Amino acid sequence: MSLYHLYKIYLYFFIGILYSKNKHLNRILQKEGMVVAKVITITNQKGGVGKTTTAAALISLLSSRGYHVLGVDLDPQGSLSFSLGLDIDHCKTIYDLFKNSASIDEVIVSTEICDIIPSNIMLSAIELEFDLPNREFLLKRHLSMVANRYDYIIIDTPPALNILTVNAYVASDGLIIPMAPEILSLLGVSQLKETIQTVQDCYNSHLVVFGLLLNKFNPRLHLNREVYEMSGQLAKQLHTKVFQTTIRTGVAVAEAPAYGESVVTYAPRSNSAKDFQHLLDEMIELISES
Ligand SMILES: Nc1ncnc2c1ncn2[C@@H]1O[C@H](COP(=O)(O)OP(=O)(O)OP(=O)(O)O)[C@@H](O)[C@H]1O
Ligand SMILES: [Mg+2]
Repeated sequence: MSLYHLYKIYLYFFIGILYSKNKHLNRILQKEGMVVAKVITITNQKGGVGKTTTAAALISLLSSRGYHVLGVDLDPQGSLSFSLGLDIDHCKTIYDLFKNSASIDEVIVSTEICDIIPSNIMLSAIELEFDLPNREFLLKRHLSMVANRYDYIIIDTPPALNILTVNAYVASDGLIIPMAPEILSLLGVSQLKETIQTVQDCYNSHLVVFGLLLNKFNPRLHLNREVYEMSGQLAKQLHTKVFQTTIRTGVAVAEAPAYGESVVTYAPRSNSAKDFQHLLDEMIELISES
């Protein structure tokens, strides 16, 4: 390495520390390959708890705040792709990427809001078709090719603990675990613990859980408040905390996907959209502290 390169690295390093929140500087550092995206996976093997809703909201909000965002749909249901307006039956998907029949640039779809790697039902064959050594690193390997183009990569996962979920955890810096404010949800989250631990032990020692997120929350219901308290205990077992922000139930959340939008662009004044704004503030603060 020449003296010039060393000088450049030191210069960027110190400027980076001083101005790490400055997006323009981040762009320069990204071009030099010195800053790579934070990769965040939204996960819970329990179905219908708000994984896709949360992923779509965070992607839209990050993008509206000027960040470069890549959404990755790792669910064969294709819900994230559909929710953000893609025609999932007529595009190349993450399955093509994993099969090596398309390059990452061929599968990334650019929308007005963000870039997305879509998915569809073809991905459900992965468990049978990808019986290769190191198959846990498939996603990480592909994402590393583009990680310097983005500030954030947000991954939506299926309601399962399978090789797709493990790929997401291996590629991630942190996890967000949405859950419904019900007693049975607490049981589901404790099952996640084992998978997270295995990934931390065997594949990705840097993986952290950013927090548990209570979705479909009604602060007036005693049971909801009770579950919030109980989830604090569960969070401790996962070495994390419960996000202070809870996401309130709102009809707009359920309506938004039909218009190919997330709730934060479809109904920005809704309570749920405001809650997602607070969640993002909390998340960014957490990341900047870590
Ligand atoms: N805060 C909320 N208020 C009202 N409806 C919500 C809220 N969050 C999610 N929903 C609705 O609940 C359903 C499930 O949400 P979502 O698809 O985000 O869950 P999921 O965890 O991704 O599901 P799956 O496990 O099937 O992938 C959807 O119809 C969604 O619109
Ligand atoms: Mg989903």
